[in-house]
Amino acid sequence: MVKPTPAARPVNPRFSSGPCAKPPTFTLASLKDAPLGRSHRAPIGKAKLAAAIDGTREILGVPDDYRIGIVPASDTGAVEMALWSMLGARGVEMLAWESFGAGWVTDVAKQLKLDAVVKTADYGQLPDLASVDFANDVVFTWNGTTSGVRVPDGDWIAADREGLTICDATSAAFATDLPWDKLDVTTFSWQKVLGGEGAHGMLILSPRAVERLESYTPPWPLPKIFRLTKGGKLIEGIFRGETINTPSMLAVEDYLVALEWARSVGGLKGLIARADANAAAVFEFCDRRDWIANLAEAPATRSNTSVCLRFTDPRISDGAAFAKAVARRLDAEGVAFDIGAYRDAPPGLRIWCGGTVETTDLAALMPWLDWAFETEIAALA
Ligand SMILES: Cc1ncc(COP(=O)(O)O)c(C=O)c1O
Repeated sequence: MVKPTPAARPVNPRFSSGPCAKPPTFTLASLKDAPLGRSHRAPIGKAKLAAAIDGTREILGVPDDYRIGIVPASDTGAVEMALWSMLGARGVEMLAWESFGAGWVTDVAKQLKLDAVVKTADYGQLPDLASVDFANDVVFTWNGTTSGVRVPDGDWIAADREGLTICDATSAAFATDLPWDKLDVTTFSWQKVLGGEGAHGMLILSPRAVERLESYTPPWPLPKIFRLTKGGKLIEGIFRGETINTPSMLAVEDYLVALEWARSVGGLKGLIARADANAAAVFEFCDRRDWIANLAEAPATRSNTSVCLRFTDPRISDGAAFAKAVARRLDAEGVAFDIGAYRDAPPGLRIWCGGTVETTDLAALMPWLDWAFETEIAALA
């Protein structure tokens, strides 16, 4: 018998983990003040870029003595700039527990050819954070987007470290209270928690990270797009909005609109509360079902943005085919777009719960998960 579809549908079916849902109040008309066709070096362009930096500092609570730069190539660009510019001065420790962290390991081990200590964990787990040696530079991802596992806090990071911490925080920034005193390099992109556009990365540097840039020159060549210093001094203009090359002023305007929306929901506190409430709606759903579970094993490590789920029903023999069929069915119904697990991750679903998603939409989606699961199980028989 065909199970009837639930009565209610999410108003916005966009639960992708990047680009993520735009802020609920967003319309294309919100971008009308974008200085299109104007130079980013004209006063109006510079003012917009500076406002993006200042708004980031305000909402994220970045300390005054940290630099914030807008850089090319989204989060990847920001992370790789830091790796290429700073590593090699001392030992390196790489922590990875999913696909993006693994990508940074490849950069450091295979491209930079550094003899790094690599600590990995399977999808669903974290490596042993207590064993990290902070005499080394330590590279890690705050929230592993493809496994839905995040570090619980920054308590494991040594306050008196000699090395630098380089943190890919792209799916954590604006959903977590990041401990700035524990982070020397922090990166994110606009297309994640604030629902902005891909293109530019944000690079946040502590005074110790700047000291590294000014005291160390790596032995490998650096393309212009990665160069943060000139004549051994930091290029300060980058951190005032004088970007290395041409940014998209449309994407900048879109980010300013997203920051304004973030203020309207109570800033960082409001954004965290929204993500927490969203994730809780999914966690509670899973707790009451014996056929679906969070991929993150320890509750304290469960992401409040990229919530990853796996099917646990013993009747399912081909997990990947089953999960794909469920995601396809929900997509075809127009109730959930882009919620299949990441291509390198264990089969399952990944539902974005960052602050731009409405809790009412997640609540409306949950009965559809029941429906799609039961329909697919029936199809197996
Ligand atoms: C943890 C993490 N790092 C890096 C990236 C790559 O980001 P971008 O496409 O903005 O360069 C992503 C994108 O999903 C991510 O989730």
